[in-house]
Amino acid sequence: MNRNLAMEFVRVTEMAAIASARLMGRGDEKAADQAAVDAMRAMLDSVDCDATVVIGEGERDEAPMLYIGEKVGTMNGPKLEIALDPLEGTTICATGGPNSISVMAIAEAGGLLHAPDTYMQKIAVGKECKGVVDIRQSATENLKRIAEVKKCRIQDLTAIILDRPRHKDLLEEVRASGARIHLIGDGDVSAAIATATPDSGIDVLFGIGGAPEGVIAAAALQCLGGDFQGILKPRNQGEIERALKMGIDDINRVFQINDLARGNVMFCATGVTDGNFLDGVRFKSWGCTTHSLVMRSESGTIRHIRAEHHFDKKPRY
Ligand code: FBP
Repeated sequence: MNRNLAMEFVRVTEMAAIASARLMGRGDEKAADQAAVDAMRAMLDSVDCDATVVIGEGERDEAPMLYIGEKVGTMNGPKLEIALDPLEGTTICATGGPNSISVMAIAEAGGLLHAPDTYMQKIAVGKECKGVVDIRQSATENLKRIAEVKKCRIQDLTAIILDRPRHKDLLEEVRASGARIHLIGDGDVSAAIATATPDSGIDVLFGIGGAPEGVIAAAALQCLGGDFQGILKPRNQGEIERALKMGIDDINRVFQINDLARGNVMFCATGVTDGNFLDGVRFKSWGCTTHSLVMRSESGTIRHIRAEHHFDKKPRY
């Protein structure tokens, strides 16, 4: 995969971030998401690739754009698979909270798990703890292992967990272990990335979130050298059948990071609202600024791109 493609794809997340950021704090999640989808779809068509959306806005009948299976790109270029979330953290954007991003993971054909739109139990850690955690073990056991590798006490570790009633037992267990907890309202892709970001103050992500977001987070951690494991948590028989139809034969399977995102993986994200690792879009009299993260697993290069967009020269904004 041509490394310069990463620069093409970051234009796509920039465009989606700018469009949704215009609607920050308006309390209208749907409008913010739609603005991001429209912008991302329009921009993708200018990228020289023959790509298929494998994680997108949903099934063809429920999502008119960026649906799973949709072909995007100019069709002149490499065959790629794309996992995308034009606006990860729709509620965050609608309320002006922290860490909503526009995000895409790109891999060569066959590189990304075609995950159903269900839930996934997740564990994510940074480079130091790669190969150390095991999602089948308790949170306490995993915290012990992380503390051992990081040569600290469990009390010095911070776990990031989505604030959901389903995590009541998990929260009690982590509190009993003595570890600190950072509860978040939404956005477990950013949370997973935080575990592999030096100085984020976050050591591990635990809990259940969206399966599609799990694939995107695994792609990010592949680029960052971290670790990620997931187990699907379907809510009903319909979701189990959907997973089977998508080729997942064992619903209880533990997906390792390489099962979720493998090979040559690229990752691009642009901040919509201010967050831990990305600043949000800032509008100016002349245009706006964006802050993006672009990473490639092959080279391990992590680029922070700060861009100025001058609206008089870019009428489509
Ligand atoms: P959206 O951007 O689709 O709103 O997802 C936000 C999010 O918090 C994800 O980061 C997370 O994986 C998922 O929702 C959790 O789902 P739920 O809100 O149903 O618990």
